[in-house]
This record gives sequence, C-alpha cells and structure tokens, in this order.
Amino acid sequence: MKEIRNKNQMNNKIRLHAPATVANLVCGFDVLGLALQEPYDIMEMELLAEPVVLIKHEDRFGLPTDPQHNVAGVVLLAMVEALHNTCGFKLTINKQILPGSGLGSSAASAAGAAAGANRLLNNRFTQHELVQFAMLGEKLATGVKHADNIAPALYGGVTLIRAIHPLDIVRLEPPPLHVSVVHPQIEVRTSDARQILKKQILLKDAIKQWGNVAGLVAGLLQKDYELIGRSLEDVIIEPVRSILIPGFDELKKNCLLAGALGGGISGSGPSVFMLSKEAGTALAVTKVMSELYERLQIPFYSYTTTINTEGIKFAVI
Ligand code: HSE
Repeated sequence: MKEIRNKNQMNNKIRLHAPATVANLVCGFDVLGLALQEPYDIMEMELLAEPVVLIKHEDRFGLPTDPQHNVAGVVLLAMVEALHNTCGFKLTINKQILPGSGLGSSAASAAGAAAGANRLLNNRFTQHELVQFAMLGEKLATGVKHADNIAPALYGGVTLIRAIHPLDIVRLEPPPLHVSVVHPQIEVRTSDARQILKKQILLKDAIKQWGNVAGLVAGLLQKDYELIGRSLEDVIIEPVRSILIPGFDELKKNCLLAGALGGGISGSGPSVFMLSKEAGTALAVTKVMSELYERLQIPFYSYTTTINTEGIKFAVI
C-alpha cells in the first residue's frame, strides 16, 4: 500500500489516545457528557494513497475488522467518500475501554478515528463535522445517533448537546473534579437499556429533571460543588435502568456516605460513576464501590481518575 505525505506535515502516521466518557451525567439523558483521563483507547493511523480503509485490532475483544461493520470503519469510510476517494486510512486499535462498559467504548473508537483522520488531513474538517462523522459509528453500535459520548471525547471537558438537528454543542469548563468508576462485569446492552425506558413522562418529573439539568450546568460554570451535588439526581431514567445493576441503591448510598458529591449510572451502564471534590474522597469512594462488588462476588474493574479537558490526545510517530 502506497503512503502519501501531506505538505506542512512532519509525518503521515500518528498515535492517539481516545478517552472514555460518562454520558448523561445523571440528569442529562442524551444531552450531557464528560471526558475521563482514564481509561483510553490507543490508536495508530496512517494516511494511504488508495481509497481503502484497513482496520486491525490489537486487543482481545474480537471486534469486526470489516470497515462496514466496525464503528471506526464506518466513520472512515464516510470521510473517504466526503474526500471523493482521494485517500484512505489504515487504523490499528488497541482498546482499553471495555466494550459494553457504559464508558463510551464505541464513541472512543469512532471519535478517535474521526479526529485521527482529520489530523492526518491537516484539519480539513471542523470539530462539528467530526462529531457528525463519528455519530455514524455510534449509530452502527447502538442504533441511535447520540452525541453525548462522542462530543466530550472530541472536545474534552463537559459538553452539552443542546440539539442534534441541527447539531448545537456547548463546551463547558468544569471545576476540578475527581471521578470514581466501577464497572461490574455484567452485560447491559445500550439498545436494551434504551428499549426499557418509558416513552412518556409526567410533567412533575420533567420539571424536576430540567431543574436538575439547569442546576448542574450552572453548578459546573459557577464552580459550585454543592449545587453540582444537589443537581446529580435523575427521576426519569435511573429508576428504570438501575434495576439492571446489582446493588445499585446500596452502592449509591455508601458512596454518598463516603463523601461523594453525587453520581449514578454511566451512560446506559453497567458502570457507575461518582464525582468528588477531593482526590482522597474519590479514592475512598472507589474503595467503597470495590468492597460492595467483592461482597456481592461480582467481578469488576474500578478507576479513580479526573476530567480530561483536552479530548483526543495526539503523538506523532
Ligand atoms: N445517552 C445514551 C444512553 C448513552 O443513555 O442511552 C449511551 O452510552
């Protein structure tokens, strides 16, 4: 396969880290998301002269490598088409974000591929366009074009997706926050977790929910930790989805007792996240999470991390 070298560019190969993300942020179903420092997927990309997309996985998950059936592949195919078949891409993915974790694994692949291709193309596309391309991967993975994992993965920090049609993304600068995450090893498919949701909600619940979304956004912008904590309440989605997560109510209660500001299901689950103001509190919260799943004898992964404010991180190789 021939390689092409872009002018103004040192190299036509890059390595990048695509971050895990927490979608919804409890009360903001499909409209809020947060990027994490850890875990992240490691990807290497190369610009090719032929209009082909080659995918290789260097991980243990057995994900499809046919680009038509790979979340990063469909993104790159769409970008090649938008470029009138003038180039192609080779992508090697080493996934560290477990598929099905509720930590935006598919979004990391899709957003990483879009951002990596764009970097190889000397930033020909806007961030907005990259979100559009990356959402094609999310559609393949979950059947729905939602951007609450894609946008924070690309922009970093906290993102508000005010609308999808037309796309309107607001990047919020959060105060320093520490994040505890536990990923119990049970399967919750996003499509199933969406299927079980009620199609209609009560006005009184809607009022509570939009009060919390507004409160959370205001709390993040004003760096008001107590307001953030009070607003991390979900009266619509969590009561339905939490039944899929063993020990959820006890987990949440114990984390709040350990000093967490608040938290809940990460995306569609099964991971659960908690925000804390101090690093020491976050470590104590992660310990509480781990103790519960040890007691329930459910294998789990846990992370104690912070917010990734940059989004995709690049290195030239
Ligand atoms: N907002 C989506 C959901 C995120 O909760 O279904 C899925 O990761």
